[in-house]
Formats: sequence, C-alpha cells, structure tokens
Amino acid sequence: MAEITENMIKSKDNLGAPENRIEGFLKVTGKAKYAAEFSVPNVLYGFPVRSTIAAGTMTDIDTAEAEKAEGVVKVFTHKNAMKFNPAPDVESTNKMTMPKSVLNTTAINSFGQYIGFVVAETFEQARYAANLVKATYQETDPKIDFDKYVDTAYKPDNANGAATDTQRGSMEEGMSNASKTLDITYQTPIEVHNPMEPHATIAVFEGDALTVYDATQMLGPSKVAISNTFNIPQEKIRVLAPYIGGGFGSKLRAWDHVMLTIMAAKMLDKPVKTAITRQMMQTNAGLRQLNRQHMRIGTSTDGKLTAMSHEVMTHTAVDEVFVEQAGFITRTMYDTPNQLVTHRVFDTNIQVPTWMRAPGETPGSFALECTMDEMADQLQMDPIAFRIKNEPKTNPLDGKPFSSRSLVQCMQVGADKFGWSKRKQEPRQNTKDNWLVGYGMAAASRAAPYQESSSRVKLSYGDDGLEAVIEMAATDIGTGTYTIIAQTAANCLDIPVDRVAVNIGDSDLPATPGSGGSWGAGSFTSAVDAVCEKAKSALKNKITSDSSALTTADELMKAAKLTEFEMEATEGPSEDSKKYAHFSYGAHFVEVWVDEDLGMVKIPRVLSTSAVGTVLNQKTARSQVVGGIVWGIGQAMTEETTLDKRYGSYVTRTFADYHVPVNLDVGDIEVHFIPEEDEHINRMGVKGIGELGITSVAAAIANAIYNATGKRMRTLPITPAKLVDYEKQPVA
Ligand code: MOS
Repeated sequence: MAEITENMIKSKDNLGAPENRIEGFLKVTGKAKYAAEFSVPNVLYGFPVRSTIAAGTMTDIDTAEAEKAEGVVKVFTHKNAMKFNPAPDVESTNKMTMPKSVLNTTAINSFGQYIGFVVAETFEQARYAANLVKATYQETDPKIDFDKYVDTAYKPDNANGAATDTQRGSMEEGMSNASKTLDITYQTPIEVHNPMEPHATIAVFEGDALTVYDATQMLGPSKVAISNTFNIPQEKIRVLAPYIGGGFGSKLRAWDHVMLTIMAAKMLDKPVKTAITRQMMQTNAGLRQLNRQHMRIGTSTDGKLTAMSHEVMTHTAVDEVFVEQAGFITRTMYDTPNQLVTHRVFDTNIQVPTWMRAPGETPGSFALECTMDEMADQLQMDPIAFRIKNEPKTNPLDGKPFSSRSLVQCMQVGADKFGWSKRKQEPRQNTKDNWLVGYGMAAASRAAPYQESSSRVKLSYGDDGLEAVIEMAATDIGTGTYTIIAQTAANCLDIPVDRVAVNIGDSDLPATPGSGGSWGAGSFTSAVDAVCEKAKSALKNKITSDSSALTTADELMKAAKLTEFEMEATEGPSEDSKKYAHFSYGAHFVEVWVDEDLGMVKIPRVLSTSAVGTVLNQKTARSQVVGGIVWGIGQAMTEETTLDKRYGSYVTRTFADYHVPVNLDVGDIEVHFIPEEDEHINRMGVKGIGELGITSVAAAIANAIYNATGKRMRTLPITPAKLVDYEKQPVA
C-alpha cells in the first residue's frame, strides 16, 4: 500500500488515499460510544421476557415474584402495556418505517417472542427478575419443518421490494433447444446476525421530546417508525447513533426492544436502557431465510445459454412477510433468451426474516455461480470463458445500458493474479500429501442503489488555516463513513483531511438515506462534494473583484472577506443516471485443500477483484471486501441456525453453536480493485462495495471443493459430515 502524504490527500487525483480512520483513536481508546454506553442520569434498565414456546396462546403470565424482586420498578406484560398502533398491511409496507406493536397480544408466533419486559434499577436485577416471570400456554403444533409446510407456499407481493416473478421467452422452448441441460437444487440455511455490537437502545423523555440512543443504520426511518408507533410528532424525536459496531442489515429497522424501551420510558417517565443479549440476537432481531433454489440451465454445444431459471422457495413469519430476493442476481447477470425467476414463500412459526449482508445475492449467487460451474464442467469449458461467452451487452432485466460493467476485466485480471492457468479442469488431479487441492472461481454482481442525500458544510478559520465541519444524518456502521466524508470534503475544499470535522449520527442533521444496501458511500460523498462545490460557487458570487484565478476555498473565503460561511445542499440521481443500470462487479478465486478422510477443508487463499467505480479510500474499501470474504467463508463452511423442528426452539443459541470464522479459518486474502470510471451513477462515480465482497464467495469455495474432490456440495454449510458422508447427501 502506498504511503500517505498530505499531497496525495490534497490532490484531486488522489482521492482514494488509504487514509487511516479519522475516528480510529476514539475507537481504540473507548471514547467512541455505542448506544448502550451513553451515560444517562437516573437511567433504569429493561430486560425482555421471552416466550418458551413457538406457537399457541399465552393463557396467563404471573409477574408476582418478579415484582417483589430487589430493584424491580415495573414488570410490563400484555395486561398493562400501552396500546400500540397496530402494524398495517405487513406485506407491502415499508418495514423501516411501519409501526411495531409489542406486548399487545397473547398469541405466540415464534420462539423467544417478547411476552414481558422487566424494568429495574440495574441490568442484573432486571435480568434476574425476568427469569421469575412465569407464563402458561396453550400450545399448538409449531410450523417449523420446511418440508412439511412447503406445500402451503404462496406468491408474495414482492421480494424485498423487487418483482416476485420475472419471465422472458419460454423456458420450455429454451430447454428443448439446448444441447446440454442441468436441473439442480441448492439450499442455503438460516443464518443470524452477529455484529460486534448487539442491539441496544436508551430512551429519554424531556417533557414531550424524546431522545433515543440506538444501534441503528437508519436515523430518519427509525424516527418515522417511532413516530408511527407512538403518535409522537417526528420533530419531537431525535435519534442518535454516532458510532455503530456493525450493521449488515440487522440494524436497518427498529426491532421490538426499541419500542419496549420507549414505552417503558414513557409510562414510567424515567430514562430506560435496554441491551439485548447474544441469545436475543438469535431469536428477536431477524434472520436470513433458508432458501431452497431450483435452477435449470440449458446451453448450446459451444456454451451459449439458451435458458436459465431460478425458482426460490423460502419461509416467512406467520404475522409478517419478508422475502429475500435470492433470484434477483440471475435476472441481470448473464445473457439468455429464455428465463424464469420466481419467489415463493410459506408461513412458519419462525421469527420474521430480515436483511442480511447482500440480501438476495448472498444465497442467490451460491446457486447461480455453482450452476454456471456445473455447466462449464459439462461443456468441458473453462468457467471464465463460459461466463464471458454469455456476457450481456445491456441489462437483461430492463434493456438499460450498464453505467459501467467491468466483470470481464475482473475475471481476467483475477485469473492472471491468482494463477488460474495452473488449474486442471478435471477434478482430483492435484494433491499435496494427504490433501486434495482444488481451484474454484465465481463471478459477482451487486446492485449499486445510489440515493438522494443532504449535507451541510460550515467553514471557519482555526490556528492552521481554513477548517470545515461536515454535518449530515449519516451513519458509520464501521465501514469508514467518517473518513471518506472527510476525504471528499478535503479534496473539494483543498484543505488537509485533519482540518475536516465530521458530525454525523444525529437525526436532527440534514437527511440522508442511512447506511445499508451498499448505497451509503456514493450517496453521502456525492452530497458532500455537491455542498462543497456549492459553497465555493456561492463564495465566488460574493466576490466583487476578478475571481477567475481563485480556486481553493481558502482563496475564495479571503477574497469574499469572510471568516465564516455555511451552506447546505441536496444531491440525488440525475436524469442521466436513471437511464442506466447500476451494478458493482467482482470475481473471487479460491484455493482449497480437502482431507477427504476427515472431511476437513482448509482455505489457504482467496483472491478477489472488484470493480466499484471510484475507490474513495483504498484501505477502508479493502477492509469492506475482506470482511465480506470472511463472512463468505462462514457462509460456505460453518454458519447455520438450527431449530428444533418439534418445539421451534433454537439449537444454535450462542457463538459456541453458531460458528463464525476465526483467524485460523482464514488464510491469505488478496483484494484488487479494477480501475473503473463510472460517469453516470453519481458525481463521485462511486458504486457500492460492502455487499459485493460476500457475493459469490461461497460458490467459489464450493466450486474449488468440486475441483479438488469431484464432489458437488449443494447444501450449505459444507460441514465435514457432509463431505465424508457425501453419498448420503440429498444430491439433486
Ligand atoms: Mo446491508 S443488508 O445493510 O449489509
């Protein structure tokens, strides 16, 4: 990595310098506070009580003992909770802003559902008393078993906002015209969120004004959800989230504990803090759905696609519908005249699913990119050549041109750097001691949904010269938002990065779309660049003398005879931008070593290429991709939430049972950014990175395992048991 010099940061050509995180010092010294860490005088502690059944009715709940416990202030149940605004049509409504009703029913819809809320003077007292609350139930048979209830599937309104079904041409025709066909089913398991910082909320009322410290990716929508739930005017609500320990989609909506905390603060007229446990992260903060994906593919003898279908079957909650758009990636990735992509869902007594890093693409790319590998194998064709052969000229979904698409370069550069030419097409050809060695690759794409954002700049003079403060209701979920905002402003204003202060994480500041879906970086920095440019033009207009030679903000301020200046701007997709399809692209290359006797898999190296338009900061961008790859390793090898089909309870309840990759599971990771200029997506030319990193990693690993062993692993995670007992797998 290049050395950082002040000149690099100051020069427009060097936007992208690997600047250290500007909030790094605060993070490592513990001064950057997460939601639960704010000190609020006289705060009480809330702890939820969870249902011990998954389906039925709560016949009674006995709080007498809990109420007598030391330090307990109040025990809330459906008997004494305030009446919440009911959730509206839960299928089509915006989940980030809709009201969320808690404790207003005796119906039990999933294991762990909150049935009570204990408020006490300390966290320990609240947690202890929560264990003293006793509920009785009338149980019904919980709907948990996928195979048993799959026949009750229906067509949902939408798949996470995308079209439920799309079709072009005729699959039947495409398959009958094909020389080679495959019909395969892949399955990805339920996964849960494990961010470094679990969810936490503090609610403080001062009169009728509410301040909420919350672990949220979305300040504005959270405010609206709270307003809709409690009928509190939006202008009376302030949501604060200056630092967040990971979001990944889990913190895109306000979960039940947020509403419980606010309710308690309101009813008790005291500040209340709730920090949910790791166990509640498994049962009460959403999950990634189990996706069963039926793929059909047909090609001519020379590898041109004639047909491709991707039919997704998944589950949702009985009381709310969320469908992951797993088939979406197949709609836009390759050129085929005949295609069908569908999503079906059925109700279960499993909590409502939610967004999880690259929702749709993470499971969908596993199915798509393994299918491509299986077909390349049938064709005896190199998997990269097969993909290039089916590269579309425009977006197959809507015919729009791509704002930029460097997938072919990603694959070719990656292949070169990885040493792909050493791969043997035939499996089981490469060994090292007792290990079978395999190479695999997969291509990746992820939508780059640029959105409107606002920003404010405040210019003033300090000891070293011109300084700027950038203010906006953006969030930094650990991705480097603070730093790229500072770099963008420094770049436009021609001042060093350390003279830019960044004030974000406060819903009172100019509105932004929040962090999620890989839209944050492009949306925030386009607004920052716009407001800085607008400030410079406004200053120019104030100068009465000839200002044509003046370029820097400092020169303009001095010529305008100003010591302070402030400007606000809103920037969003242009008419030109809307004419294009926006996607980031990448490719992953993986080497695996497999011990067939023990079913052990080592992943000594992963090499990834990404084409994401402008890279704002080489270091934080690389970290995003590395994080995605590590999670992709977890998805491929270990991560799985297992429910007891009889009771709907969670077998995997902690990190001891839900395995995420640790250092020993991760080998060498190499990340390369393919230089790319996207002139259409936004003024910064920035596409998304965060979710591209995980997309297709699991497919590349499974494809490498096939190359090593000749075994197709179609059900994730690829556990040692599945590899050893391969013949017993449900091989579709
Ligand atoms: Mo995103 S689903 O907020 O990683």
